[in-house]
Amino acid sequence: MGTKRPFRIWRGDENGGDLQDYTVEVNEGEVVLDVIHRLQATDAPDLACRWNCKAGKCGSCSMEINGKPRLSCMTRMSTFEEGETVTVTPLRTFPVIRDLVTDVSFNYEKARETPAFAPPADVAPGDYRMQQVDVERSQEFRKCIECFLCQNVCHVIRDHEENKQAFSGPRFFIRAAELDMHPLDAKTDRKEYAQSEMGLGFCNITKCCTEVCPEHIKITDNGIIPMKERVVDRRYDPLVWLGSKIFRR
Ligand code: SF4
Ligand code: F3S
Ligand code: FES
Repeated sequence: MGTKRPFRIWRGDENGGDLQDYTVEVNEGEVVLDVIHRLQATDAPDLACRWNCKAGKCGSCSMEINGKPRLSCMTRMSTFEEGETVTVTPLRTFPVIRDLVTDVSFNYEKARETPAFAPPADVAPGDYRMQQVDVERSQEFRKCIECFLCQNVCHVIRDHEENKQAFSGPRFFIRAAELDMHPLDAKTDRKEYAQSEMGLGFCNITKCCTEVCPEHIKITDNGIIPMKERVVDRRYDPLVWLGSKIFRR
């Protein structure tokens, strides 16, 4: 038999809304998404929420829980005090569609803008060869589940809607870093592109993106900072600049 716990959930749509209070049964071992499902089955059958795998792998169930961007299927109820009200709101950086569901198409637009992997024209699929060390180096970035929690928390767009056009965000910086490490990605200079087209310069390394990543990807330390450092090297170090002119791939 579970206990009754206080929940506060944002209900509304693009025209506005507010927080509504519920008291809902919580059982041992449950996560926030379980409780949302119980509410849908009882007091709030029209409560909208996006989810899919309930295993922390599809990236669909992102929301803000007590003000922190999290996956609701991976947030255990045992992390909160018994009497503590758990407040659940939609991701703040993206427009609300209804209740806890936001329109994350900004991220898909940024994905489309990012130039695709482009191997040399004279190497056919099947003839690609990579060293294991190169495979391993970018493996961390390939763990991304596209939950967009990092995109949601980055202050560059969270607090400045006007920056969205010029800023791709941390998820796509690690995509650029991943391709930059790929020995067969020959066409685009990913660092220069990230700087000139993706808004890498807007990032002031607050590391909020790294803090919320459910895959524990070191977005800032392993992705963003190495790219920034190399862009700076190229731009300001005349020897690096000269080398890049002479030995350009
Ligand atoms: Fe989510 Fe991490 Fe991927 Fe960002 S980098 S979208 S936080 S899994
Ligand atoms: Fe934003 Fe992450 Fe940089 S939160 S400012 S992209 S370190
Ligand atoms: Fe798939 Fe939560 S439902 S990550």
